[in-house]
This record gives sequence, C-alpha cells and structure tokens, in this order.
Amino acid sequence: MNRLISNSLKYIILLMVLSSSCKGPKSIYTFNKSIQVEKAAVVSGHPIASKIGIDILKQGGNAVDAAIAVQFALAVCYPVAGNIGGGGFMVFRNAQGEVNCLDFREMAPNKAHKDMYLDGLGNITANLSTRGHLAAGVPGTVDGMYEAYVQYSQLKNWKALLQPAIELADRGFKITKRQARMFNQEQEAFKQYNNHQPALVKNHPWSGGDLLMQKDLANTLSQIRDFGKEGFYSGAVADQIVISMKNNGGIIDHEDLKNYKSIWRKPIKCNYNGYEILSMPPPSSGGIALAQLFKMVEPYHLNDLGFHSAKAIHIMTEAERRVYADRSKHLGDPDFYDVPQQNLLDSIYLLNRMSTLDSTKASFSSDLDAGDFSESEQTTHFSIVDQYGNAVSLTTTINGGYGSKAFVEGAGFLLNNEMDDFSSKPGTPNLYGLIGAEANKIEPQKRMLSSMTPTIVVKDGKLKMIVGTPGGSTIITSVFQTIINKIDFNLSLKEAVHAPRFHHQWKPDELRIEAKNFDQQTKDELKTMGHQLILKGDIGKVEAIWINDDGSIDAVADWRADDHAEGY
Ligand code: DON
Repeated sequence: MNRLISNSLKYIILLMVLSSSCKGPKSIYTFNKSIQVEKAAVVSGHPIASKIGIDILKQGGNAVDAAIAVQFALAVCYPVAGNIGGGGFMVFRNAQGEVNCLDFREMAPNKAHKDMYLDGLGNITANLSTRGHLAAGVPGTVDGMYEAYVQYSQLKNWKALLQPAIELADRGFKITKRQARMFNQEQEAFKQYNNHQPALVKNHPWSGGDLLMQKDLANTLSQIRDFGKEGFYSGAVADQIVISMKNNGGIIDHEDLKNYKSIWRKPIKCNYNGYEILSMPPPSSGGIALAQLFKMVEPYHLNDLGFHSAKAIHIMTEAERRVYADRSKHLGDPDFYDVPQQNLLDSIYLLNRMSTLDSTKASFSSDLDAGDFSESEQTTHFSIVDQYGNAVSLTTTINGGYGSKAFVEGAGFLLNNEMDDFSSKPGTPNLYGLIGAEANKIEPQKRMLSSMTPTIVVKDGKLKMIVGTPGGSTIITSVFQTIINKIDFNLSLKEAVHAPRFHHQWKPDELRIEAKNFDQQTKDELKTMGHQLILKGDIGKVEAIWINDDGSIDAVADWRADDHAEGY
C-alpha cells in the first residue's frame, strides 16, 4: 500500500514538472496534455489536427466526420505517421451502442510474392522491405476515409472535411522543434530514396517555427476533395503513383489501386472486471492479443498486488510472453488464413497457458512456444468523442517513421513500408523484432498482420474510455497497461497515460522498461525474479479519453511528444 502511494506521488510530481515544461513561452504551440470538458474531445498527435477535429464537431459533424478531417490534417501536419499513403484501423461506437470496425490496412500488390525480399540464397536483402517503393503496400487510407464518410457522416459534406488539410498544405504551418529535429535526421534518407526534392528536404537545417508548405500535397488532396476516392485510386494521382513506382523499382500498378477495398469487420469483445473491451479484429493482432491478456491476468486480481509492484508486472509480463508467442504463429489476414480466433480466446485454453506460471520466477521464452489446440516512431493514434456520444478510436500508419522514406513524385506524399509487417522469412524478425510464419507470409492482395489496437471500453452499456497508441509491437501492451492503470489501479487518466511503461513480446526474451521514472525497487525485484531487464526510451504515445460518471470528459495526450488534447 505504501509503495502504491509513493509510486503515485512520484507521478504527480512528474506531471507537475511536465505541465509546466509544456507551456514554455518559447514553444510555438501550447500543448494541452490534460483537459476536462463537457461535450466533446479530440486527442491526436498534433495540436493543429486536434483543433481541426473540434472545428468539425462544432459545425455539427459527428465523431466520424471529425476523424476524417483529423486523418487528412495529420497527413499534412504530422508527416512522420499521418498519411494518405498508408492505412489503419478504426473502431467506431455510436451513441446507441452499436460497434463497427473499419479495416483500411494496406494490401500486398498483385506482383508481390512470398520470397520477394530474399536473395538467391534465401536470405533477407537488407532494407528491401523497409525502404523505397518496393516496401509499399497498396495504400488504404483514402478508401477507408471515404467508406467511413459514406456509412456514417452526419455533416454530409466531404469537401468540408478535406478543406482544412488542403489549406494547411497550401499555406503551410509552423513545424515544432521535435519535427525540425526529426526532419533533419531524415535528410540523407529522403535524398537517397527520392530522385526529386520532396517538400521535407531543405538545403539548410530545419528549425522549430519554420514554415512547411506542401503544394503538391495540396493538389493531391484537392483531387480527393473533388473526386472522392477516385481522386486517388484513378485519374492523375493514380498515374503519378504508378509512374513513380515504375521509375523506382516499385510494383504497385493501376489494377492494384483499382482493386483496393477497405472492409467493415466485427469487433473483438471481451469482459474484464466488469468492463467490456472492444477492439480491432484481424488483420490486426491487437484485439485478440488484448483480449487474451485481459483473460489471462483476470484471475490474479492485479488491484490487490499494487500499481507497478514487481508481482503485478511479473504476471502481466508472463501473460505478454505467451500472447506474443501465439501471435507469431496463429495470426494473419483472416481472408487468407484461417485464424483460430475462438480457440485463442477460449477461457480454458488461456487458463492452461498460464498454468506454467511461477509467481516468483520469470519463465524462459525458449521453453515456450505458441499454444497448440489441434491447430520508432511511427504510427499515430487519435481518440474522439463527439457531442452526441459517438466515439472513434483510430490508429493510422505508414509503418516506420516517414514510412519507406519515398515520396510519390509530384503528388507530395510519403509511401508506407508496411510490406515489412509481413513475415518475409519465417522465424526472422521484422523492424519490431516480431517473428511470423505461414499465417503472415506474403501473398498478392493479402493484408499484413498489424499490432494496432484502437480500443473502446464500455461499462454497463455506457461509453467509458477511448484509447490507442503507436509503438509497433509495443502498441498492444501499452493499451493493456493504460486500461489496467485506470480500471485496476484507479489512477487518474493523466497518471494512467503518463506512467512509465514496460513491454515483453516473447522474443527476444527481454523485459523492456522505460528508463525514465521507473521505480528502482520494482526493477531490482524483477531482476531477482529472473527477468532480463532492458532500459529503453519512450514506449508509445497514448491518446486517451475517459468519460466520468457525471458525464464530464477527461482527455489526455501523452507527454512523450507533441500530442494535444482539445475539447469544449
Ligand atoms: O501495423 C503495425 O503493427 C505497425 N506497422 C505499426 C508501426 C508503428 O506503430 C510504428 N510506430 N511507432
């Protein structure tokens, strides 16, 4: 109990320091890290995008309208992950409690094949699945946004949803210091993977406050505004994509663009300690993994063990180890591979998986395989609740920071490097150290497995929480911890989001811990239990909304970057 209080006190002090440092007179933007509002909130990776979302709500739009405007705005003001050249997942819950999930994940092009990133000896060719045009899957974002619009828009004004992003690209906006630093780090890669000069390339180093104008991107967005999804998948922009592919060793063609389709899917649902968790089904591993984690830890009553006690972290880590082993073998695109969803979520199966747990000692990943039952930044997440009670949880990505680093010449947008999320070679780790097999091998038109976990939490039929994060393989465990911090440990939303995080993914057999602010005694105890601790920088950037019992809304943006909460 004492430990619980001392850990909580530490975070309160940390938060006081952080909130004062986020609003220094020198910063270009004021970052709202935590707000309480009455009607509606948008939390995203950039202040401009959050404000655009709120503007759309104030015009009478609903959460889906706001999400579409935020997605396009992020493609302009947050190019490290915001995109029209990538894909993502959206979990939508309307005020009446109906839930629908939109899969706008990228698809492998028709010319893709399972050995496309291997050399003659069957070894992975460095960088081929992560850099340049060949690393890109067929983008799904524009189709996804259009589909969401057709299905759920209240504003019924597509042009109004695109216009803010177009103006932002055309007139420019001031970049943050963090963005300047990141643009500077990528200059060499941008030059190497582009035979023209994209807007992010400059002859002198970028500084915070510099204006970034993206005229080509403004033109592309105008095509999408004027012609809907056809403005991207056919016509001038499609031609630009295909020419850019041909000139740079890529394989996406007109047929691939024409065939792209986002898909509505049913959420993964699980009950945990009186709450209902709703999250994304395959081809994201997020929902199944999250449900497995909750079901595995529920019998251990984490709230009795204490927030960030070694015992609680040990149980959560051992569950994570087992879940990621399952992920590596059993999860892939359900349209191509028969994902054993029911088996993976079976209560008896999950109890059995935890039966080898020793409450005092870490197990070894090498002793543990996937179960058998006869069978750096960057992505970005935003959470929205509107004035009508509808909720959107949306995670979107081009995979690595600035995706493949390759822009579509003349069209001004970055291509994803999502093909690396397939298993290029069974047993060989990808960018995030994740291992895959048959279920996630490359096949034409298949969607690569994801960890993105946009999630909504409900209690007694009422909306309680909207949550998600970037972070590659750590996405699932960051969402898991944030929900546990709130539900089990009763932290305020701000404490729950800002608390230091940890992560285990089966292989490599290491327990990653954020170096900053993690309790030393807890670390020592975990080491004594046999966990291989690796100290890391930031893990994730959680954007969360919590609805209090009196109806007021807490909205929290992660302190770890430029994220911003806006509301009214
Ligand atoms: O879909 C996935 O799981 C990855 N492409 C996500 C990448 C990511 O989160 C990178 N951000 N930090």
